[in-house]
Amino acid sequence: TGMFTYDPGFTSTASCESKITYIDGDAGILNYRGYPIEQLAEHGDFLETCYLLLYGDLPTPAQKADFDYRVTRHTMVHEQMTRFFTGFRRDAHPMAVIVGCVGALSAFYHDSTDITDPMAREIASIRMIAKVPTLAAMAYKYSIGQPFVYPRNDLDYAANFLHMCFAVPCEEFKPNPVLARALDRIFILHADHEQNASTSTVRLAGSSGANPFACIAAGIACLWGPAHGGANEAALQMLQEIGTPDRIPEYVAKAKDKNDPFRLMGFGHRVYKNYDPRAKIMQKTCHEVLSEMGIKDDPLLDVAIELERFALKDEYFIEKKLYPNIDFYSGITLKAMGFPTSMFTALFALARTVGWIAQWKEMIEDPSQRIGRPRQLYTGHAKRDYVSIAQRR
Ligand code: CMC
Repeated sequence: TGMFTYDPGFTSTASCESKITYIDGDAGILNYRGYPIEQLAEHGDFLETCYLLLYGDLPTPAQKADFDYRVTRHTMVHEQMTRFFTGFRRDAHPMAVIVGCVGALSAFYHDSTDITDPMAREIASIRMIAKVPTLAAMAYKYSIGQPFVYPRNDLDYAANFLHMCFAVPCEEFKPNPVLARALDRIFILHADHEQNASTSTVRLAGSSGANPFACIAAGIACLWGPAHGGANEAALQMLQEIGTPDRIPEYVAKAKDKNDPFRLMGFGHRVYKNYDPRAKIMQKTCHEVLSEMGIKDDPLLDVAIELERFALKDEYFIEKKLYPNIDFYSGITLKAMGFPTSMFTALFALARTVGWIAQWKEMIEDPSQRIGRPRQLYTGHAKRDYVSIAQRR
């Protein structure tokens, strides 16, 4: 017993003060540093969003050029990292590989791990924003048996990622600018989301003073779960399983059944009790990508649109305020771009890296933050005496 507030799932506990991201879940509002997500997604680019999240304001042209230069200068990983990859089975899930390789960065960059030094924090931050895409693309290349492709620093962030994933040495590769722009927007949508499970994990890991690369690896591990970032992969698998609109009522009935653990993946949110503003932009981006790829009738999109329509007029979903979240339309979009399902959560991790770092830095720089150490309500045995093994029945 103790004088603690019992709050499983932290539904009513604020763990920190933050100036980074604002969400009004009832109104369906998401702002980064005060700027509405709709405006950033429409007019901004991802590296500008990174700058905004990290430093608090949109960059001037000179600041932007300097930041872009600093990030692109760090896109290569140590050549020895390639050996880490070859230690994994080819059929390993990319998230398993990435969580290991990002953690392994901590063994390569000893000069950026003294977290008490602001310059070290800065360089660790830039390195992660620059290198996580390279590692994610390497995980993909390794899984399909193609050679790793070095980053190209003349391309912008998203175009370079498409290059590292889809270029092969035997052919010239020109990233499609429409797809690069769409991917950049998807990165913006995923960049931060205040104290979600993975961000809280990064903060908790960081609160002990742990190595920053290891802290981000902890966030990646948490993101992997199907209730969190893993939902984009699970949502696409679900749409494929449903297959045709006529089977939707059956799946909705399963989702409503208290005795069935099945949930509609890509639906519901702890904070949004209204349409997820990111899902709206994602739906628009999805249409743009399908049209650019010349996909006229995607059966998966038909199922998704019909499932959304069906669920949003169902009493159960209305009453519980369950709306599509960001993961509902992202899978269809990424699939149309050519990414395999197993890479979806890796793309989420890539984009969320900046949010994790911004939150980690804010915590380290906040003098009121102490090591995170929740308490518990103990419900186990009262004290009892040891019985020697011969006397136990
Ligand atoms: N399908 C059917 N029922 C649902 C769903 C769903 N997707 N989501 C919530 N519910 C029901 C749930 O059964 C519960 O009912 P009751 O009150 O009768 O027990 C009620 O709605 C509240 O659910 P909860 O699990 O208490 O809510 P939570 O805030 O703990 O969980 C969530 C939020 C996102 C984990 C959950 O909605 C969920 O599992 N959704 C599916 C997975 C998903 O799409 N996750 C992605 C989240 S968005 C961003 C990201 O990737 O992190």
